[in-house]
Amino acid sequence: MMETWLVGTGLTSEIGQALLSCLEPTCRVLGVSRQSAVSSTHHVTWVQGDLANHRELWVERLVDELKSRHVEQVAGVVHAAGVVFADQVTATTPDEIDQTLMVNLRAGLRLLQGLRPWLKSGSSVVLVSSVDARMQSSDGPAAIYGAAKAGLEGLARQLAAEWGESGVRINAVAPGAIASGMGPQASLADRITGHIALGRLGNPKEVAHVIKFLLSPQSSYITGTVIRVDGGLNLRY
Ligand SMILES: NC(=O)c1ccc[n+]([C@@H]2O[C@H](COP(=O)([O-])OP(=O)(O)OC[C@H]3O[C@@H](n4cnc5c(N)ncnc54)[C@H](OP(=O)(O)O)[C@@H]3O)[C@@H](O)[C@H]2O)c1
Repeated sequence: MMETWLVGTGLTSEIGQALLSCLEPTCRVLGVSRQSAVSSTHHVTWVQGDLANHRELWVERLVDELKSRHVEQVAGVVHAAGVVFADQVTATTPDEIDQTLMVNLRAGLRLLQGLRPWLKSGSSVVLVSSVDARMQSSDGPAAIYGAAKAGLEGLARQLAAEWGESGVRINAVAPGAIASGMGPQASLADRITGHIALGRLGNPKEVAHVIKFLLSPQSSYITGTVIRVDGGLNLRY
């Protein structure tokens, strides 16, 4: 079987790891991480990069890897890196604002700019947003994070329109309260599940399966959309 390539950020996250564990065995993965200790395997190669650092050449490193392996097309791209500083906007420091916008939003844009030559008919991009793009969570205010995620959803719609004719699809998924790294604090879980129709937090696999679907040809007529994976958050009032 022919191998396909997936390039992504945030693949060391619990949602990212759940995605890697459900990919087809023919899928080769190139991921960015700040961690120097993540070791590459036959299927997954890591390049080091801090998405919050303007001077870091992580996009160039990804491109060099693709060129050195003579990759002609990247079938899937996932931008799942995220960071949040939950606080009132007046208490958010300039450095926290920069980090939030750089990691959640700017990195997604830079990734897609850099990979554009490898995105061809059939390629699919998934940007990991959040329900916080539309509402505040019980974890507290996180205006910059919400703005960055709303920006990602705008990016998905604009690029879906711009690149649609070349057969490239771009969508976003918006997880709700997921029991993983950036998920709700344990002390708030009961209060939050009271707002969820399914009455429980989601698990990383449930987000990963939707990302996998959007990456696959089964979603070939879906582009420019945001799929919420939130168990029916705020369906009652
Ligand atoms: N968990 C939830 O309830 C929830 C809800 C809505 C949306 N989301 C979104 O889902 C995604 C994954 O969330 P998670 O909870 O699974 O996250 P997580 O386990 O906390 O992982 C965060 C990821 O972001 C990467 N990252 C953060 N800062 C980075 C930087 N400066 N440079 C490079 N990579 C950086 C980390 O990579 P390294 O540490 O390897 O560098 C890691 O892979 C995020 O985009 C988050 O906003 C999560």
